[in-house]
Amino acid sequence: MIGKLNHIAIAVPNINEAAEQYRSIFGAKVSEPVEQPDHGVTTIFIDLGNTKIELLQVLGEDSPIEKFMDKNPKGGMHHICLEVEDINQAVEKLNTHEVSITGTGKPRTGAHGKPVVFLHPKSCNGTLIELEEV
Ligand code: CO
Repeated sequence: MIGKLNHIAIAVPNINEAAEQYRSIFGAKVSEPVEQPDHGVTTIFIDLGNTKIELLQVLGEDSPIEKFMDKNPKGGMHHICLEVEDINQAVEKLNTHEVSITGTGKPRTGAHGKPVVFLHPKSCNGTLIELEEV
């Protein structure tokens, strides 16, 4: 069902500082910040060739990463994103096996304009997993 690792997301208190470290010290290819009001985050992507790092910073009220940042004020690994070919088929299978999906349980359009679901950490060894249809 799962394919490649699409990205690893790291939530940070200051996205520009974090991006600058990746750019000037780590020598990575770093995108411009993009505000995603619908998703309550600002994102920056770091292209690693084989995969990406997604930096996340709280944007506005009721950000989905707000609670995480309260618990991890210095930032931390927030989720991993794995690719699937057919998200509805994946959801069906997960439901059969009682793997809990966050929110409504239905795919929605993610930060990259593609259908995504998030699997609850309590069902996935303590790790929040995003599935993205590619
Ligand atoms: Co993500």
